[in-house]
Amino acid sequence: MIRFTSESMFEIIQIVKKNLEKEKTCQFEVLNPDLFKSKYAGEIVIIDKKEYLYRGYKAWQDLAQKLFSRMLTPIKVSEVYVRLEFEKLDLTDSFHNKNSEKEEKYGVGSTFFEINKNEEPEVLLSYFEALQNVKIEKRKRILNLGVNTGEEFEIIESIYDKFPEHEFVGIDYCESAIAFAKDKFKEKTNVKFYAQDINCLDELALGKFDLIISIGTLQSSNLDFNKTFMDIVQNYLNNDGSMILGFPNCRWIDGEIIYGAKAPNYSFSEMSILYKDAFFCKKYLQQKKFRVTLTGKYYIFLTATSIRK
Ligand SMILES: C[S@@+](CC[C@H](N)C(=O)[O-])C[C@H]1O[C@@H](n2cnc3c(N)ncnc32)[C@H](O)[C@@H]1O
Repeated sequence: MIRFTSESMFEIIQIVKKNLEKEKTCQFEVLNPDLFKSKYAGEIVIIDKKEYLYRGYKAWQDLAQKLFSRMLTPIKVSEVYVRLEFEKLDLTDSFHNKNSEKEEKYGVGSTFFEINKNEEPEVLLSYFEALQNVKIEKRKRILNLGVNTGEEFEIIESIYDKFPEHEFVGIDYCESAIAFAKDKFKEKTNVKFYAQDINCLDELALGKFDLIISIGTLQSSNLDFNKTFMDIVQNYLNNDGSMILGFPNCRWIDGEIIYGAKAPNYSFSEMSILYKDAFFCKKYLQQKKFRVTLTGKYYIFLTATSIRK
């Protein structure tokens, strides 16, 4: 059994990586992090005159994620050591690799349908904060572009008891997702869903909104990002309205959320397009007198609120 005590993280990475190249899993023993408090990764700690380098579970989880593995439940093997096990992810198991009809790529039968980002605490809390930032209680008409099955409305409903007093409109060209969303909200007369291509949004004559939410949608290859974004701001957002845009900065692989944006021409995560698009929106909205913030980790949330008097 491999045991790490005072090895550097650099040394550990080489060993674990090599093992995962040969086997599906890699087990190793490390110092039980619960024995110490308020230590940073790599701090020297002493037990019975022996030196160890401290590392918390966060560091081990990060290592597992960077090595495209999942960390299984640690097992306490003695007073000092816990055994960790990393299991390699199946990199082919991802909706990003599926080539279904474009409208149904995110439909009820898709792998995407199994993903519930409301159950990822980092994503959920960042979305909560964005909703608080835009003062959701002041936004009477709310539009969601790429609403899928309406999860982003469900969160608003769960945190806000005046939900029925607002009007919600959800757009998505995926028929099966919209049918699912309609069924979920069938009791709510203040919520409407339309199976519609965002490229033809004008056909619906929806009028203007106080808040526009669009998460993981405007960067789709079937949309011209800059043009669509500017059209939406000019034609659908009230002057004193707000926006929440979510830029995916993660991939979903074999049950795990993996940090970093998927880039078309790279096998690894690459954030150039995300930064370019997010900054384009930020600049554009600032020129139009919006206060703009960028927050979040697995999804970068752009939140814009008007500062016009
Ligand atoms: C990655 S999913 C994001 C869904 C949801 N907002 C979320 O974050 O879980 C993108 C959604 O946008 C929809 N979509 C992509 N292009 C569209 C278009 N041109 N018109 C309407 N919906 C579109 C897809 O069908 C899908 O439901």
